Amino acid sequence: MQNLTQYADWAYLVGAVLFVLTLRGLSSPISAVIGNRYGMIGMALAVMTTFFVAQNPNVPLILGAMAVGACIGIYRARTVPMTQMPETVAMMHSLVGLAAVLIAVAAVFHPGVTHDMVHRFELFVGCFIGAITFTASVIAWGKLSAKLAARPLKGSWVKPVQAILFVVMLGLGVDYFMTQDVVAFLAMTGVALVFGYFWIAPIGGGDMPVVVSLLNSLSGWAAAGIGFTLNNSMLIIAGSLVGSSGAILSYIMCRAMNRSLLNVLFGGFGTTAGAAADEGAGGEKNYRAGSPDDAAFLMTHADSVVIVPGYGLAQARAQNAVKELAEALKEKGVKVRYAIHPVAGRMPGHMNVLLAEADVSYEDVFEMEAINSDFASTDVVLVIGANDVVNPAAKDNPASPIYGMPILEAYRARTVMVIKRSMATGYAGLDNDLFYLDKTMMIFGDAKKVVEEMVKVVMGGGH
Ligand code: TAP
Repeated sequence: MQNLTQYADWAYLVGAVLFVLTLRGLSSPISAVIGNRYGMIGMALAVMTTFFVAQNPNVPLILGAMAVGACIGIYRARTVPMTQMPETVAMMHSLVGLAAVLIAVAAVFHPGVTHDMVHRFELFVGCFIGAITFTASVIAWGKLSAKLAARPLKGSWVKPVQAILFVVMLGLGVDYFMTQDVVAFLAMTGVALVFGYFWIAPIGGGDMPVVVSLLNSLSGWAAAGIGFTLNNSMLIIAGSLVGSSGAILSYIMCRAMNRSLLNVLFGGFGTTAGAAADEGAGGEKNYRAGSPDDAAFLMTHADSVVIVPGYGLAQARAQNAVKELAEALKEKGVKVRYAIHPVAGRMPGHMNVLLAEADVSYEDVFEMEAINSDFASTDVVLVIGANDVVNPAAKDNPASPIYGMPILEAYRARTVMVIKRSMATGYAGLDNDLFYLDKTMMIFGDAKKVVEEMVKVVMGGGH
């Protein structure tokens, strides 16, 4: 047994290194595949090692649970469409939270085991974070998948209820910590589950991606807390990696939106969806509409085209049509590149994933910092289902809620073409002056259909 434990420490160390390499790999679309493989090997190693060092494991039960989990995982991975990734991730976090709660409850009720104060502290913190993560993730999943209303729960009573639940939850946790009273422990778990609902329900559906990333972080810390209880160094390391990477990702998303995490969590603009832009002062403004044929004709005669994909491209599932358009233009001698904003779409890397799905070459895809200086010398910028990420108000209107958010400077190009279905606003609910510039042509319609029309024209079959 002593020998086995020694080997286990080494195996866990190798597993931890593989997890670090996984995160390193996932930082770029080019190395993401190999990063994923490191993660799979690391996880297999961690599970097998834990299996071998466990005392009196219930082998059939463990293998049965692993088989059921693997079947569900494989089925979900094969069937989930890319647009449903955010809610799938939310659902997976809810399971991590639930696992933390179940492990903590099992440890508290383990016959013949008394926990010292350090263990009780780990159990109570790991359990309430897990419980909050569980219900909050289920609500996030419901809002993202439209199974629950995306609108936030509102009312002057909401914040006091949140505060009372939080204080009661901590009070019961401290009671368990001091007295070992298992009833207090169970009551704390129940209150934490309810608190998870009241924490997330007041946040609008649009802010759910940031919330999901934060829940990712919480689920990691819950796992790390339980890792201390089980004295499992692998769980502590893996939980801390998930916890810190989720926290960093939340920070990056907030920074790219020029908002603080507190603003996202306690009110903000993620609550409105697609309001008509011409309400109020914007009602007088004129814009120029064109057809897919006009736009395709102009692009065929351009030297350079930059495509800016946004959330509407994902909604329309237009990535394959866009790739076809780019290839057709390249064949006509046009230089075509893609410009990616860090928070285009609704989840980190959303656009990169879609373009990768359509086999767009990484060499043609440019991050915002790399391409912004090129817009002034670009003939045509084709904005496909993007809105906020190209809104010049972020640069020149200090009164705008998105003022200071870095944007793709599409307005500097010689000609701008925008594909969207109407003049409705995007995620931030703001009008966009880019659409009213003299050099801008609006092409109304579903992104996929419009781009397919364009492909026909560029390839010579549309006239
Ligand atoms: P948005 O500003 O949300 O604009 C998307 C546009 O796509 C809408 O104006 C909509 O106009 C159009 N659209 C929707 N369906 C379409 C379809 N089928 N065909 C054509 N157009 C369609 O998107 P964005 O520019 O990508 O910006 C992302 C926003 O999400 C930012 O405000 C960002 O802060 C926020 N956000 C992003 C993330 C991450 S991590 N990516 C996380 C949280 C929040 P119509 O309705 O007129 O068609």
